[in-house]
Amino acid sequence: MSSVIYEKDQDNIVHLILDKPNAGANLMDNEFTDSLSAAVEQLSQDDYAGVIFRSAKSTFFAGGNLDDLFTTQKENADQLYDMVNRLKLAMREIETQGKPVVACINGAALGGGWELALSAHYRIALNKGVILGLPEVTLGLLPGGGGVIRMTRLLGVQAAMPFLLEGKQFKPEKGLELGLINEIVDTPEAMLEAAVNWIKANPTAAQVYDVKGYKVPGGKPNHPGLAKMLPIAPAMVRAKTKGTLPAPESILAVMVEGLQVDIDTAMRIESRYFVELVCSQVAKNMIGTFWYQMNEIKAGAARPDNIERKKVNKLGVLGAGMMGAGIAYSSAMKGIEVVLKDVSLENAEKGKVYSQNIVDKKLAKGRLSQEKRDALLNNILPTDNAQQLAGCDLVIEAVFENRELKAKVTEEAEAQLSPSAVFASNTSTLPITGLAEASRKAENFIGLHFFSPVDKMPLVEIICGEKTSAETLALAYDYVQQIGKTPIVVNDSRGFYTSRVFGTFANEGIAMLGEGISAAAIENGAFLAGFPVGPLAVTDEVSLTLLEKIRKQTMLDMEAEGKDYVHHPAESTVDKMVSLQREGKLAGAGFYSYADKELAKGSKKKLWSGLKDTFEDSSKAIDLSEIKDRLLYIQAIETVRCLEENVLTSVRDANIGSIMGIGYPVWTGGILQFINQVGLESFIARAEQLHESCGERFKVPTLLKQMAKDQMIFEDK
Ligand code: NAI
Repeated sequence: MSSVIYEKDQDNIVHLILDKPNAGANLMDNEFTDSLSAAVEQLSQDDYAGVIFRSAKSTFFAGGNLDDLFTTQKENADQLYDMVNRLKLAMREIETQGKPVVACINGAALGGGWELALSAHYRIALNKGVILGLPEVTLGLLPGGGGVIRMTRLLGVQAAMPFLLEGKQFKPEKGLELGLINEIVDTPEAMLEAAVNWIKANPTAAQVYDVKGYKVPGGKPNHPGLAKMLPIAPAMVRAKTKGTLPAPESILAVMVEGLQVDIDTAMRIESRYFVELVCSQVAKNMIGTFWYQMNEIKAGAARPDNIERKKVNKLGVLGAGMMGAGIAYSSAMKGIEVVLKDVSLENAEKGKVYSQNIVDKKLAKGRLSQEKRDALLNNILPTDNAQQLAGCDLVIEAVFENRELKAKVTEEAEAQLSPSAVFASNTSTLPITGLAEASRKAENFIGLHFFSPVDKMPLVEIICGEKTSAETLALAYDYVQQIGKTPIVVNDSRGFYTSRVFGTFANEGIAMLGEGISAAAIENGAFLAGFPVGPLAVTDEVSLTLLEKIRKQTMLDMEAEGKDYVHHPAESTVDKMVSLQREGKLAGAGFYSYADKELAKGSKKKLWSGLKDTFEDSSKAIDLSEIKDRLLYIQAIETVRCLEENVLTSVRDANIGSIMGIGYPVWTGGILQFINQVGLESFIARAEQLHESCGERFKVPTLLKQMAKDQMIFEDK
């Protein structure tokens, strides 16, 4: 069966209808390559006026077949190399026949879909539901179907960069502006009509870059303007990736190398880099986690089965501070009616101003319409009156981190709610089972841990208490997805999963400083490992006093539970800093010095110069790989402990949560995938060295040893 149907209409125009049999979307796979090659063969023997590419699916074309790419290894890489070259040859033949070729883009054309569209001379898009672009880089790949070569030739190196190096997607209007889309129409019928008209009006056609004398915008690499920029371009890429992501570097290489040769040679250069990336460990990590595991989360892997999906229509948010205001905004934006309650109307209104500031900025930039702005603000009702909570399906409390206060607001709110309503706490540290004791129905009580700033952070950690019911979990899961965020589900424990593991990162960095290791080396070690923020900078953000507070609370709780508290070597450094009144960013002084307090207005923060005399030991040798390993390993070990203790119940939640919630490096594919790729045996060997040199916290969990013995890896069944 063919993925491309060959049909000729009354105007002698060949329609190549993209319709992969028994599939929801068109894919760039072997079958498609064979089908397109056969169509090209047929065209070569046919007499026709032009070609129209159109799709029989609701999307135009989905892109490469990730199943094939995920399983391609060095040993069978030549098959993939042959396939992409064959595919590109077919696309090249169609665009060089001298006959007009039009792409009718009826829906998403991402990755391979956009590459196919690029091989047409004229591109028409529907004005609704179309999204375009080349997101391959976000999976550690490059567009291997001619996308790098054509985009670079059409836009020029500089203008093509955001679309290739960052995978920036765009709508047809933007495409029109860039000259990549030629026409936008309202209906599929109008699209076909426009395609036929264009073919009739342009009986011969060629790509601009195939016309003699074509000049690439901005010039080729030897053009003085571009030649000046190119030497710094790799450094700019590295500044972002810290050398941990090979794809952007390969893409830049293909862009530049491809422009120095004829297009057919350029296509082969692209194929070589593509196949190399496909076989790389980083691409496997990223595809495994951001594609497969993410899709499982989207499909509700941790959501209880057989419970009807529900929507939250009315949401109560208690506490209009930083978190409450963000939760209100993110929910109102998705059309949910929000009651935002604080102790005074003034406080509650301040929380709503947070939303107003965001939407007004978006309105000014033309990214939001006046109606949408007004509708969003109308969805938020600020109040100091708990009675307004009546009718809420879900209430989330985000008041101060204080048990008694949380108990009080739980009782106050529940008095207004129907028996089926769910109550959630956004606590970052207090165990949910304990907080649920204040609830009239612990089955309906759950943790919804948002991250700051709520409007930007994509993850929500759902925490089940001992008594949380399946219905409650299902509603929480549905709500998180309703507001467009990604849920992970964990069981109750101090710090849950993300805060607990994140704490080990901050503490490890601080402990190193306490040992005399240079602060700059610690922060740079973190960057070079791929962490977005260094442990000292991040501690300043959350404040050193918070670490102190959590420690005190933990000590009290453990004493009450009759357990021993184990001190962390970071504690003395934190105490010293607090005694020096260096409590973090909010205080204007922490591990860093900040503008307005210690530095001039408007200056960038800098590591505090006093760290040298207070902690650093200049005789200590700097070993960056040791710093990187300590930061990567301590979090991985803590994550295995979370699995061992059943706080985590899936590998996917561990991986996605680590990247989206706590900034574990993207190249690893997540915290447990990091252990997989190092290899369990090697990981254990290195962890044992660290255990020896740094202390008990690096002790290898029994689960890990057992898994290594059984030759297992971290994967979900
Ligand atoms: P915040 O101090 O900015 O806001 C707390 C708000 O609660 C204040 O507006 C206060 O007036 C209000 N409030 C106090 N008593 C109240 C009552 N009886 N009824 C209604 N409102 C009342 O605090 P923030 O940072 O928003 O944190 C709130 C909760 O979220 C805490 O439990 C915190 O641990 C948790 N959290 C904080 C994160 C962060 O990064 N700040 C991240 C994740 C969770």
